[in-house]
Amino acid sequence: MDGKNDIIRSIEKGNLSVGIIGLGYVGLPTAIGFLDAGFNVWGVDVSQHVVDTILRGENPTGDPEINDIIPSPDSENWNITTDTKLAVENCEILIVTVPTPVTANLKPDLKYVISAGENIFKSIEPNSGKIVVLESTVYPGVTSQSWLPLIEKYGLKEGIDVNIAYCPERFNPGDEANGVRKVARVIGSLNPEIGEILVNVYSKLTSGRVDYVGKMEVAEAAKVIENVQRDINIALVNELARIFPALEIDIEDVLNAAATKWNFHRYTPGVGVGGHCIPVDPYYMIQRAEQVGVPAELISAARAVNRTMPMHVYSVLKNILYTNNVPANDSNVLFLGWSYKAEVGDHRETPAEHLATALTDSGVNVSVWDPHLENDVYPSNVDVINDINSAKNFDLVVLVTGHSACINLDWGALLQNMRKPLVYDGRRVLDLIQLEKLGWNIYAVGKP
Ligand SMILES: NC(=O)c1ccc[n+]([C@@H]2O[C@H](COP(=O)([O-])OP(=O)(O)OC[C@H]3O[C@@H](n4cnc5c(N)ncnc54)[C@H](O)[C@@H]3O)[C@@H](O)[C@H]2O)c1
Repeated sequence: MDGKNDIIRSIEKGNLSVGIIGLGYVGLPTAIGFLDAGFNVWGVDVSQHVVDTILRGENPTGDPEINDIIPSPDSENWNITTDTKLAVENCEILIVTVPTPVTANLKPDLKYVISAGENIFKSIEPNSGKIVVLESTVYPGVTSQSWLPLIEKYGLKEGIDVNIAYCPERFNPGDEANGVRKVARVIGSLNPEIGEILVNVYSKLTSGRVDYVGKMEVAEAAKVIENVQRDINIALVNELARIFPALEIDIEDVLNAAATKWNFHRYTPGVGVGGHCIPVDPYYMIQRAEQVGVPAELISAARAVNRTMPMHVYSVLKNILYTNNVPANDSNVLFLGWSYKAEVGDHRETPAEHLATALTDSGVNVSVWDPHLENDVYPSNVDVINDINSAKNFDLVVLVTGHSACINLDWGALLQNMRKPLVYDGRRVLDLIQLEKLGWNIYAVGKP
């Protein structure tokens, strides 16, 4: 049996089966994307809750983009299970989309990559030639370092019994224009022939370009530096948002002026970065640099700026309350938004949580209104407001997430219900001049 030729024949006949291991924010849209592209799909998740929810036709992640498009359980070519072995038996290609978080001491936590690999490789038959692709974000070297020992452990040979490859997921949840069926892909593999097979497969999934880029480490590094770059760019603007108010300069005036030059890249300051990628992935690169004895000073400094941004905003907010004579032991603050970025119902690593904890630890009462989130996602130190019209007796409103629902609420009506007319724009998305005309006292990140 020749696994590679079998796969090529299955691609030609249009009956290739693809297994997606890990059905979260990345894996579920990927599985749906492959189904739409005409593949037989086996979706696997270790969580019974995730599997049961998908089998009810519901979305376990809360991502609004895929709320209405979960296939019904009896859809043709749609198989959802907790059993990796079943997917391995039925699929020529296995794609791994499991979490890659950091530990409490900010080191890469590869346990999910290893356990998913273990479940796959122990079920693979010799000579099968199956292709196993890691899509999770990692540092250069993880796919080989984590999986080659497992392949050996189960008596298999890479390149004969099984082939491994890396193809980072790059889509932007909640962003239709950069969804899983549109985004450009890069593929790294030990074997160029496998790379070309995967270019063929992924070209059916996405209308974006698909490139084989050589060894896996190149594709792994390409993904992680995209997020490192973003963290550094945001850190620069966040640092400037701390410096300019001390110079009596509004950062937005500076950015408006600088952006008139053709090669200036504009970023907007905020209360901090969040989500599963930006606050996490740079630690993967830092760790790899450490392993080879090269300091990652710029990457580490950017992390420090962005990680401490909620504490900076906390001290600004405390000062606003103090200078407006709001008693320290009786101050009510309302957060508009809790998810880590606009228009998504994803609260992972949200800077809102650090900001809220700093405030509540100092005796401030914090309430939150976020129309994108269910009530059960919040920590116990904050109160949840379900109807913004019922928000009363607040001293300070803080725009934490730039959801359009938060930007476009009835600011006149909210002002009537306030105890003090104080607003802080933590994302520089509000029309501050208009709010001032309405009678609000305006404050904002990066504004003196
Ligand atoms: N969320 C994003 O915007 C995004 C974008 C690009 C890349 N990524 C990367 O994609 C990867 C996955 O992220 P996510 O946001 O989808 O994570 P997630 O936590 O939403 O989903 C991961 C899923 O994998 C399951 N899982 C864990 N171990 C498993 C195993 N051994 N077998 C089967 N299922 C298992 C979990 O139960 C969970 O449902 C991460 O490496 C992340 O950095 C994320």
